[in-house]
Amino acid sequence: MLGIGDEIKFVGSDFNAFIDHTKNAVILDDGEYAILSRDSYVVKSILNEEEVAKPITKIEWDSETSKKGGYPHYMLKEIYEQPQTISNALDLEPSGLDDVVEMFEKAESSYFLGVGTTFYVAKYAQYIFSELAQKYIPPISSDEFLTLANVNKKTLVFAMSQSGETFDTLSALKYSQSKGAKTAAIVNVMGSSMARMVDEVVLQGSGPEICVISTKAALSQMVVLTLSAMKLGLKRKVISKKTYQENLQSLKELPAIIQGILNERSGFIHRIANKYCKNKNWLYLGRGIYYPIALEAALKMKEVAYVHAEGMPGGFLKHGTLAMIDDEISSIVFVPPKEKKDLYQSTLHSIEEIRARSGFVLGIHFTEQGKNQDLFSEELILPNVPPLIAPLIQLVIGQLFAYFTATSLKRNVDKPRSLAKSVTVG
Ligand code: BG6
Repeated sequence: MLGIGDEIKFVGSDFNAFIDHTKNAVILDDGEYAILSRDSYVVKSILNEEEVAKPITKIEWDSETSKKGGYPHYMLKEIYEQPQTISNALDLEPSGLDDVVEMFEKAESSYFLGVGTTFYVAKYAQYIFSELAQKYIPPISSDEFLTLANVNKKTLVFAMSQSGETFDTLSALKYSQSKGAKTAAIVNVMGSSMARMVDEVVLQGSGPEICVISTKAALSQMVVLTLSAMKLGLKRKVISKKTYQENLQSLKELPAIIQGILNERSGFIHRIANKYCKNKNWLYLGRGIYYPIALEAALKMKEVAYVHAEGMPGGFLKHGTLAMIDDEISSIVFVPPKEKKDLYQSTLHSIEEIRARSGFVLGIHFTEQGKNQDLFSEELILPNVPPLIAPLIQLVIGQLFAYFTATSLKRNVDKPRSLAKSVTVG
């Protein structure tokens, strides 16, 4: 980009123009150049110096908006960046993941570590590693790690952190290293304290996440963890090369599917969120791997809309929570694809229990189940997707639902009260 005072000299047989270097000149890509000053401009042909008339398009952006690329909030911008950040995650240098997979294989015990959103990412990792690698790795919230974990030199502690600066997670890693454990982390910020302190770091490459509320960084970490679980499963011969390739193909379809949902379902989610934004108490229900999705989606609702939302495994309902269900309680249920037969059936059973007690249920489910009005109070139908990526699609819905609820309630979306992007103090 040329700056004021740059000299532009065209030397050549076909044209020769020297632009007054006291002005700020920009070369346009159609053989013209513009001379700009604070309150005027002129466009000229490079060839013959004649002035060229140009239509004016006034962009009503202030500088802050222009940084948001026209989006009203960074949160929405970052939700819409997810197709790209997922592609970035899938393009990661495989060696980085192979080294981490090797560490899991060598460790006698392992833990996933995170806090807030990244604890729910760690919980997602627990399910996906169990499913794809038959490796049970407990997630521990960083703030509880020192009182709960048994760490020794044969332990691997694998942390997730967008900022790489969260005090509790750094403390847990330092403690682990003091016990001789191996440490690894997925982080989004190159050069962060965590990236520099662990034995192995995976830089997820999601780009700057400005909004205090984490969206694209969390989803991208889940994709990296899914890939890592697939690699570990292949190495442990738990899944075949064919299954690995099928799963990889499913992950590669994810960016386009999310783009389609952002384009075609956002309007509906906006309307539903606006219609029910005054609902005071939400239960977020998911079974199996949809449980961490429910937890993270509920956290989004609390963080950005300041609305009470409790994530819970569907099976918990009958053990007490059911007593609370009445027409004052709203539930959002993340329904798996029908091919996940047991999960699907047990999720429907949870919904029936709520509806039988006049509870409101917003069902998020997939097309092949068809319209099912008597089961849901409201329903959002998603396109058929491969089961592996269905939970990740459901998370995007949860992000959008929280975002539009917050805008309906006129919340300070990018800087919610009482929150910080990363808590760097104890
Ligand atoms: C909390 C933020 O302080 O830290 C959450 O409010 C975030 O949004 C959590 O998920 C963990 O941060 P990080 O940077 O370690 O992923």
